[in-house]
Amino acid sequence: MAQKRAIILDGDPGHDDAIAWMLAAASDALQILAVTTVCGNQTVEKVSYNARRICTLLGIEAPVAAGRSTPLVSEAMNAPSVHGESGLDGPALPEPTMPLCELSSVALMAKVVSEYDGKVTIISTGPLTNTACFLLAHPELKEKLECISIMGGGIELGNWTPAAEFNILVDPEAAKVVFESGVPILMCGLDVTEKALILPQDFEAMRAIGGQVGQIVAEWLEFFYRFHKNIGYEGAPMHDPCAVAVLLRPELFDLREMCVQIETKGEYCRGATVGHNRKPPNARVAMGVDRAAFVQLLIDAADRLKNREVAI
Ligand code: BDR
Ligand code: CA
Repeated sequence: MAQKRAIILDGDPGHDDAIAWMLAAASDALQILAVTTVCGNQTVEKVSYNARRICTLLGIEAPVAAGRSTPLVSEAMNAPSVHGESGLDGPALPEPTMPLCELSSVALMAKVVSEYDGKVTIISTGPLTNTACFLLAHPELKEKLECISIMGGGIELGNWTPAAEFNILVDPEAAKVVFESGVPILMCGLDVTEKALILPQDFEAMRAIGGQVGQIVAEWLEFFYRFHKNIGYEGAPMHDPCAVAVLLRPELFDLREMCVQIETKGEYCRGATVGHNRKPPNARVAMGVDRAAFVQLLIDAADRLKNREVAI
């Protein structure tokens, strides 16, 4: 079997972060070296607690480190309207079985990247604060990064403002550092994630798998679906899972090379990801996905974890 891709999961869980991590935990092609958390969907304290509960549920044994409690420049911004007061409202979850790592997110990233014998991929499914701080603090480790797979932005649309997607809007200065870093970037923005929709028959198929993980993921999907249905979406956009799926099955995605620049100053467009071909490309941007195959990937992942059961 081919060598596994070594990854760091960096996110702000969050329902869709948790489902992305389920996809990673279930895959034989990935080796999770570390989990790092960042303020975004909720405070860093809340998402760090959620992260450890998710790792306990899924059997992820990597160290979990907390990141910064604020973006690089702007005030913190959370999304309780989407993910609830806990940042992960919905089904009961296990209490964490692992402590929080005593290292900061950036120190843990630096440790695992420098110690790993090979290149490492960072999967960022929250604001890019940790990843930017890591790149700024450790430029010598850039060459040890295979790629940064990002859920964030949107070439043709925004969600929190007409121009900006939440993860990039929370910390545009960090996003600018990352997109200008020279590290290969895979971007799954709203252009693709709003096509990766979960419909009721999909969460029912997830529920029908049986097993603790499948039941909980089905609840998360339904929770996310109900919120999005209420605001006019046809289904629940699976934002963060796209950033893992694109590494596992790139052929399912319509990937285009682009130069992506981050608007940090605009009065109306702060946090916009401006994609074009007037300059050399710095990213491969997903613009579409085979929805049915993507949904099947999620269901297969839960199926692989079907025999896992922890005390709740
Ligand atoms: C992004 O914002 C968060 O609410 C989700 O977890 C996802 O990462 C979508 O805009
Ligand atoms: Ca997220």
